[in-house]
Amino acid sequence: MGMGFHSRGRDNAFYEMKEALRQYFIAGSISVTITGGLILYLTARRGYFDLSIINKSLASGSLVLLGIVLLLGPLSRFYSRFDNWINYRKELGILAFLTGAVHVYLSMFPLARRGPFGLYQSRPLVAYSGLLGLVIMAYLFIISFEKLKEKIGMAKWWKMQYWGARITVLAIFIHMAVFKYPEWNAWLGGEAGKLARPGWPPASLLVAIFISFVLLTRLSELFGAKAARFLTPVWLGTAIVTSFLLFNL
Ligand code: HEM
Repeated sequence: MGMGFHSRGRDNAFYEMKEALRQYFIAGSISVTITGGLILYLTARRGYFDLSIINKSLASGSLVLLGIVLLLGPLSRFYSRFDNWINYRKELGILAFLTGAVHVYLSMFPLARRGPFGLYQSRPLVAYSGLLGLVIMAYLFIISFEKLKEKIGMAKWWKMQYWGARITVLAIFIHMAVFKYPEWNAWLGGEAGKLARPGWPPASLLVAIFISFVLLTRLSELFGAKAARFLTPVWLGTAIVTSFLLFNL
């Protein structure tokens, strides 16, 4: 009996590890697909490839993953088709942190023209809003370990994840929008510079449209589940049409 119990425990631990690996594999594939897609898009748009393109793609990839993390809650609640997707929320969040961390490293070291703290001095709002996002994600990552989760207590832990994820998306959205606004404005005004495909919108603008869709979907929930269920496809339609129109300006 004792033996049976122990081997069952071992089987369970094995099964859990296999399941965790499977979830990381799927979340990792999603992350690689998004970042890879952004690398291809930026390379085709500019007509060259360099480290700065990898940096931008990791940065935008991290924000898209965060957007998906925030979207999974309402999607799984509104539509049964997305029920299982919620399982990947934690892994996607951790990958958003890791890709974001590589972006911060590349921005502060190999790509920094005025040293690691140059941007903090010249553009404090841009740099510190990004740093705030990274620090919160690092904290959420650390407390995601089971032992700390138990120590903090489930109710408080969920509250921290809930608010942490929201503040992070807002902080990174500000980081990107304040930084990129002049470039978006110039492109919308017809100044494309030396681009191989000047008709293609900046990737960061398309990412901003996706994040606006996510934020509108979450805000709609304030008006109740029924309103949100109705409004989500409306926001999605608006985001798709807007993106499509940008390609045909
Ligand atoms: C995890 C936190 C962060 C995320 C998710 C993030 C995300 C982003 C995004 C989406 C962009 C626009 C990418 C594009 O141009 O297509 C960007 C640009 C940039 N970020 Fe961050 N950021 C974060 C933290 C930081 C921090 C702390 C710094 C401080 C040095 C920083 C420095 C930069 C720089 C220099 C750019 C411009 C890159 C370029 O135009 O080549 N970021 N970031």
